[in-house]
Amino acid sequence: MSALSQTTAWKSFSHAVSASPTKPATLRILRAAELEVDLSTQRHSPALVIAARALLNQQGFEQARADLFEGAPINWTENRAAWHTALRAPTPPSRVAHAVQAEQAKLAGFVERVNAQNLYRNVVHLGIGGSDWGPRLAVESLAGHAGRRTIRFASNVDAHAITAALEGLDPSDTLIIISSKSFTTIESLANAACAIDWLRAGGVKQPLDHFVAVTANAQAAREFGIREEHIFEFWDWVGGRYSIWSSIGLPIALGLGMDTLNDLRAGAAQMDEHFLNATLEENAPVQMALSAVANCSVLGYASFALCPYDARLRHLVPWLQQLEMESLGKSTQRDGTTLDVASSPAVWGMPGTDSQHTFFQWLHQDGKGAPVDFILCAKPDHRHTRHHRLLIANCLAQRAALLEGKSFEQALAEVSLKEKNPQAAAALAKHRVHPGGRPSTLIVMPQLDPKQLGALLALYEHKVFTEGVLWGINPFDQWGVEFGKRLAGDIERRLDALGSDPAVSPYDPSTAHWVRKLASG
Ligand code: F6P
Repeated sequence: MSALSQTTAWKSFSHAVSASPTKPATLRILRAAELEVDLSTQRHSPALVIAARALLNQQGFEQARADLFEGAPINWTENRAAWHTALRAPTPPSRVAHAVQAEQAKLAGFVERVNAQNLYRNVVHLGIGGSDWGPRLAVESLAGHAGRRTIRFASNVDAHAITAALEGLDPSDTLIIISSKSFTTIESLANAACAIDWLRAGGVKQPLDHFVAVTANAQAAREFGIREEHIFEFWDWVGGRYSIWSSIGLPIALGLGMDTLNDLRAGAAQMDEHFLNATLEENAPVQMALSAVANCSVLGYASFALCPYDARLRHLVPWLQQLEMESLGKSTQRDGTTLDVASSPAVWGMPGTDSQHTFFQWLHQDGKGAPVDFILCAKPDHRHTRHHRLLIANCLAQRAALLEGKSFEQALAEVSLKEKNPQAAAALAKHRVHPGGRPSTLIVMPQLDPKQLGALLALYEHKVFTEGVLWGINPFDQWGVEFGKRLAGDIERRLDALGSDPAVSPYDPSTAHWVRKLASG
């Protein structure tokens, strides 16, 4: 495989991006499911449309997309499919239909039973990463939709998290969910051990009867002592960060109802339809991916910010951080060569308008800044019309300001109204110059409901997938995380004075120093 930067398609793409106007004059709004994705403030030109199509062709996009939906082993370093679309398809693909429908029915049956018997007023969910962010985001952001139980989440191995999650709950009325694809993740297992102690201390005779497991390693859940009817399975062909569509959605169904989980899946399925069938030019995930690649690999933006102008979506930021950075934070291409263009921007962000008073100064006037994804809900779920007007106004204003900027001449005219000394006015005016031309995307959801949220998550999933194709990297593995996990296990053994001698350490001097100093013996 020749270096990406040396290919004809890349050269044309890169040239077309650089030559496109920084302040595009045309409106470019794509409709995807029921979302509107406004890309008018991203680089665009007729030459770029042609070059982008050629790049997608060169990188085998159409075949890769077909492989995704057909369950081909597109996670090539682990030789498995990444078939999350099968979990939300109205009719699952025949190869997995039986298993998918059986698990969906088992989950629905469980939810119906605990509802009918009025069991468990509280649910504590133990999981981390992909086994946490999706359900946490959905439960928090859709809380207005018929909440039936208290659902709490503990992910971190810092015991303050599990302590706070259990605080004040009645053990006899609490269900604990361990969500772990591998059922080996130390954070979730350590928190589960805490929960067992807590149940026992609260007078529950058979603590494991209060547990359910959601996992792709049912055997480990059985060995842990969880009852067969309380084990909900998914499969190795579902990536951890794409698992919300599987039984990992259980806390959503318990907290907000089975219909909410089903609607979430239906919204995602609508986005799948769009991603499969819309033309490349009207395909929102594809066009968002092309803009992301243009911004990062050509225009040199090393990060982008996500600012949902809806406070309920605050967990969308870490959810997207995991999706983007665990999926794309790598630089080895399929044949083992190193990708030779900048890739995988860091993701950060915060809901507006808090973000305006936190980091927008940097976005407006730093020498480089970063592109921004703005998200708005057209209709709120409250009656405070002025608040909503203010929210919309702020979102649109930030975006317009980032695009328009303020020239020296404009700033000087402004300053000169008060400062009559021309030299002083010129110096002051320089502080008020805003370069402008800063790219952004605006996603407008009609309303924050389960369907729209499902569509939004799937939009980003397909965007990330397309970026992986464009950069030639596998978005479905996470060897870096595995590496860190293994070292943590070894260091924990050394910290435990009962384990290996902490004086003997294969680590660098600083790590060895702290292992010795912090060893618990
Ligand atoms: O962060 C690495 C990772 O493997 C994620 O991909 C996954 O979502 C998370 O750990 C949790 O893993 P598990 O579901 O196996 O407990």
